[in-house]
Amino acid sequence: MDTTLLSKTAAAMVAKGKGVLAADESAGTCEKRFQSVNVDCTEENRRTYRGLLFTTPGVNQQISGVILHDETLRQSGNDGATFPAYLAKNGMIPGIKVDKGVVNIPMLPAAEKVTEGLDGLDKRMAEYFKLGARFAKWRAVITIGEFNSIVLPSHTCIYANAHALARYAASCQAASIVPMIEPEVLLDGSHTIERCEEVTEVTLRATFAALAAYNVSTEHTILKASMVVSGNTCSRQAGVDEVAERTLRVLKRTVPASLPGVVFLSGGQTDLAATAHLDAMNRIGAPWPLTFSYSRALQNTALKTWSGNPANYAAAQKAFAHRARMNGLAAQGKWNRELEKSAA
Ligand code: 13P
Repeated sequence: MDTTLLSKTAAAMVAKGKGVLAADESAGTCEKRFQSVNVDCTEENRRTYRGLLFTTPGVNQQISGVILHDETLRQSGNDGATFPAYLAKNGMIPGIKVDKGVVNIPMLPAAEKVTEGLDGLDKRMAEYFKLGARFAKWRAVITIGEFNSIVLPSHTCIYANAHALARYAASCQAASIVPMIEPEVLLDGSHTIERCEEVTEVTLRATFAALAAYNVSTEHTILKASMVVSGNTCSRQAGVDEVAERTLRVLKRTVPASLPGVVFLSGGQTDLAATAHLDAMNRIGAPWPLTFSYSRALQNTALKTWSGNPANYAAAQKAFAHRARMNGLAAQGKWNRELEKSAA
């Protein structure tokens, strides 16, 4: 465990005005996204599209690192360099998604999932380090809801996921790879923002308790958090300031000050909402750098603009560069809607 390297990696991931691009969509998720723009989800199309994102001119001013899928870590760009080599050369840290997706938890309602991928993880970590990965991601999913009068999430679901995240994080650190831990509380549902706040707090408490139990060093861990928002079908949709205040309140209650940084997922928020929320939180300020690690909120427009047509390549890169710039500003509390329009 190289603590100097871990500290350096973590600090660079959340450097001022920079955040992480999540480009680690599984084959299934990628299929859905590509289908929405009528592109076949072939290995070559995935390579072309991700290459488009990584080679966007100037994007390394706002993108500190990229979460890659196993397939992408082994692919090369048009210049012949492997993607991790290209990224590292251009000042962007290669990361790797190491979880193997979610499965049902026996005896619990189907909405309750646990993330798999711990078997053989130490071996995979050693290989990922050799391939250039310096941070990793593991996503746990927590669903808010009700099933046959059972209130979800259950304690079992939160506990199972917290322990998997902690074991994964310990494996990462042993391999000198910074763990990005992602306990995502889904925004799908009719629940209130108050309920989201409650569940997020319980989830983060359990997660950090498990990290302590597995001797994970919080100094070398990045939290990828979901924001505290209203359920997407809730009749009262909280405004930007309320989301920022509630999210920060929960983080301050549960996240050790020793953490090098907190990054957020976009979770299905609109591009603008994800940017506005991040900006509002940074205007208030927190004990840690707060930045983005978005997939959809960085890629939506770029993917639509590209739509598989080589003629749209440059326009798609421009769209991606714009969202990266806006979120880079939001990571410093310097974004506003005027800038959004003028720079578009
Ligand atoms: P979204 O920003 O689209 O939620 O994706 C982030 C991510 O990495 C989910 O694991």
